[in-house]
Amino acid sequence: MQIEIKNQKLNEQKETTRIVFVVAKDFTHSWIEDKDTLSMLDFKAENEECLFVATHNILYVGCESLDADDIRLAAAKAYEYLQKTTLRQACIGTYSLDCPGINIKAMVEGFTLASYTFNAYKSKKEISKFQKIILCLEDYSRSDVSMETANKALNAGTIIAKATNFAKEIVNAIPHDMTPLALANVAQTLSALPNVTCEVMDKDFLEAQGMNAFLAVNRASVHPPKLIHLTYKPEDAKKRIIYVGKGLTYDSGGLSLKPSEHMVTMKADKSGGAAVISILKGAAELKLPFEIHAIIGATENMIGGNAYKPDDVLIAKNGKTIEVRNTDAEGRLVLADCLAYAQEFKPDLLIDMATLTGACVVALGEFTTGVMGHNETLKASFAESCAKSGELSGTLPFNKHLKKLIKSSVADISNISSSRYGGAITAGLFLDHFIEEENKDKWLHLDIAGPAYVEKAWGYNPFGASGAGVRANLYWMIDEAKK
Ligand code: BES
Ligand code: ZN
Ligand code: ZN
Repeated sequence: MQIEIKNQKLNEQKETTRIVFVVAKDFTHSWIEDKDTLSMLDFKAENEECLFVATHNILYVGCESLDADDIRLAAAKAYEYLQKTTLRQACIGTYSLDCPGINIKAMVEGFTLASYTFNAYKSKKEISKFQKIILCLEDYSRSDVSMETANKALNAGTIIAKATNFAKEIVNAIPHDMTPLALANVAQTLSALPNVTCEVMDKDFLEAQGMNAFLAVNRASVHPPKLIHLTYKPEDAKKRIIYVGKGLTYDSGGLSLKPSEHMVTMKADKSGGAAVISILKGAAELKLPFEIHAIIGATENMIGGNAYKPDDVLIAKNGKTIEVRNTDAEGRLVLADCLAYAQEFKPDLLIDMATLTGACVVALGEFTTGVMGHNETLKASFAESCAKSGELSGTLPFNKHLKKLIKSSVADISNISSSRYGGAITAGLFLDHFIEEENKDKWLHLDIAGPAYVEKAWGYNPFGASGAGVRANLYWMIDEAKK
């Protein structure tokens, strides 16, 4: 799907279908030509409802407000409607009353996110005829959006949404195909981008580094582990931002085997890894002024005679000993070693992303990312940018009482809490044991277990992977670059 900007009047595109937003259920706006028809057909303009008025070749779409996320939603619904028709293109105005760049960017994101379909495993691929959206700068609102502003917004919106779709494609791939090696190969393709390099480390490296927690999780898998390290290093980078992603290409639970109904969707346990790869891709394409690293611990968590066991004690890379009480709490073991590795590169900011706990989904619901860390300012700035991106986040607070629940009688720390409550936070506090003192205030932990995989479509997220965390972090870095 292509989006083109034209310095032309929307109303002059009579031969092309026009998409018209009905904003705030208000039919009195000057741009609504079919007031009577809409009333007659009882069009309510609710929930991004679509109505096609053939006589004027106009698709009306309900848009709750001109806030960025409402624009994203309406654009996505318009696209969904159009791609089911035989139409090839449509045009739309900019609704640039207040913030031209922001609104155009949001619209582009909505269209591009909606254009993603996952049909790799369908024998008959449905190919939509719909190919092009024309954004007309001269519409009913104001005509002072410059071509330059509009093109910048188009470029940024496209990069951000395509990076999100890139993550979806990785996560949706089945575990048989997207093995740790295959994930590493996807990461390698990004080294074609300017200033991007990719290193992939094998089992020997992990052994030499003493990454025994990561290795233990991999032990019963037929696929060797991979430590993937992508770097984007522009000239005169302002800061070094290091992302660490959980890349469990499959989580069966290990010997603490998951019940079958919980095992389905565990191909999505690589969502943190997919997100950090895609964030780096987006950041490099946006040419953000930061040195960015994406470090992914890629492995499966399987069963077998050589599997690691509840009762084992592991010595992590940083020398801490971990009592294994549940092999299904494997993500934190992989991350523990990857976080220790990441800190050797002296980050200014360190962010880990993981589908870490079911408890986070219980706490915040399936739409929201759990944000944890010690630095209140950092958490607040992330939350602010995250909201602009249209992603939802909620902060989960650490406290000293929860910290005590992961004490172990036989090792330095246990991999599960002794209580059934507060599991998202105790997992975060487990990771805290692997954050060095000097980095405590530089660290953010994002639990994306809820939003990473969509089982019932919501907003502009279709069934399957959502690319959770990609837009939030790209928006956050764009805001950081302005500081
Ligand atoms: N990958 C899961 C967490 C998860 C659950 C992600 C649901 C997405 C949806 C993780 O490895 C896990 O199994 N965690 C356990 C931890 C428990 C054993 C302390 C969990 O959440 O049940
Ligand atoms: Zn698990
Ligand atoms: Zn897991």
